[in-house]
Amino acid sequence: MSNSGNTPLGNTLVHSGRETGGDGRLVNPPIEIGSTVLFDTLAAFEAARDRRYETGNLYYGRYGTRASFHLETIMCELEGAFGCTIVSSGVAAITLALLGTTKSGDHVLVADHVYGNTRGFCDQVLSRTGVEIEYYDPMVGEAIEEKFRDNTSVVMFEAPGSGTFEFPDIQGIAKTATRHGVITILDGTWATPIFCRPLSLGVDVVVHSGSKYLGGHSDGMIGFIACNETTHTPIRKTVMAVGDKPGAQEVHLALRGLRTLDLRMRHVHDAGIEIATWLRKQPQVAKVLHPIFDDCPGNQYWRRDFSGAAGLFGVVFKPTTEGQVRRFVDHLQMFGIGVSWGGYESLVLPVNPARTATTWSEQGPLVRFNIGFENTASLIEDLKQALPLL
Ligand SMILES: Cc1ncc(COP(=O)(O)O)c(C=O)c1O
Repeated sequence: MSNSGNTPLGNTLVHSGRETGGDGRLVNPPIEIGSTVLFDTLAAFEAARDRRYETGNLYYGRYGTRASFHLETIMCELEGAFGCTIVSSGVAAITLALLGTTKSGDHVLVADHVYGNTRGFCDQVLSRTGVEIEYYDPMVGEAIEEKFRDNTSVVMFEAPGSGTFEFPDIQGIAKTATRHGVITILDGTWATPIFCRPLSLGVDVVVHSGSKYLGGHSDGMIGFIACNETTHTPIRKTVMAVGDKPGAQEVHLALRGLRTLDLRMRHVHDAGIEIATWLRKQPQVAKVLHPIFDDCPGNQYWRRDFSGAAGLFGVVFKPTTEGQVRRFVDHLQMFGIGVSWGGYESLVLPVNPARTATTWSEQGPLVRFNIGFENTASLIEDLKQALPLL
C-alpha cells in the first residue's frame, strides 16, 4: 500500500488522547497508577460518583484513570463509536460484551468459526446463565433471518474467522439483525479499525483483542469494546459490575503501541500478500486462505468492506502426515511457534478447526502464519528450506 501513515486515522493515532497546551509536557502520558481519587468536598465526591460510568470522569481507579480515558477516546475516534470501554484482555472484551447484552431465556447465535475461547465461554459459562447458544454457518449472510426466534437477542461473529479465514457478509447480517431488534457483536481483531470499521457497516458492538495489532508488540494484554449508543451503557455497567480493568502498564503499552498502528498495518498488508502469493505457487500447497485470492471464502465481502488485509492467513497443504507437518513447523527458523499474533515477529501454528454447525471440508492440514516485520526475502528463504519436509 502506498499511502503509509497518510490517512486521516493516522492523524487520530498520533494526536488523539494526548495532553495539549502547556510548556514542558511529555509526548507520552506517564504510566498512571491509582486507586483512591481525592476530592475537596463531599459534594464534589458525590458528583463524581454519580457520573462514574462516564469516560473522563475520575472517581475511583477501577472506573478509569486519565490514561485509560485517553485510550478509550482514541478507540472511539478510530471506530466512530459512541463509547468505548477497555478491559483486561480480548477474551474479557468478548465475554463482557456478551454478558452485557444477554439475559436468562435469550437465544444467541454464534458463528461456527469463532475464536476457540469465544466458543468455550458460550458453551461453559454463558449457557449456565440460562442463555441458549446456537452455532450457525458463518457464510449464511442475510439468510440468518431464518435462524431468528422471538427470544434471539445477539449474533456473535468474527471477520474473518481467525483460524479459517472466511469473511462473512457483515452488512447483510447486521442489517437483518437490526430489522429484528437483534444486537450484533463482531470480533474485529484481525482487521483493526485501519482496515475495517464495522460500526459504520451497521454492527452494534466491535470487540478487539488489543494484545494483537493494537498493542502490537506481544507484551501488554488488553481488550476493547467499542459500542453504539444503545449498547454502550449496559456493557460498560456490566464491566464495572464485574470489576474488570486493565493494569496501568498495559494501558501505557497500548497507548504507545497504537501510535504506530497505521504504519504497522500497512507493512503487514504488503508483506502478507507477498508471502501468501509466493506460498500459493509452491507444489506442497493446496490453497492459501488470504482474502486477495478469489478462492478465499467471502473474498467478495472483504473487497467490499475492508481497505486492506492483516498479515495473518492460513495455508492448506496437500494431504500429508501429521509427523511431516510437525517437522516442517519445527524446521522453520524465523517463525516462532506460539499462540496469539499481531506483534512484530513472524509466527506459525497448525490449526484444527472446531465445527459443530458446519463441516470443515479441506482435506489437507491447515497451518496459520503471522507475518511480522522481518525481511520478506529472508522469510521466503526460510520457508523454502522447510517446505521439502512436507
Ligand atoms: C480473534 C481473537 N479474538 C480474541 C482473542 C483473545 O484475545 P486475548 O488473548 O487478548 O484475550 C484472540 C486471541 O488469540 C483472537 O484470536
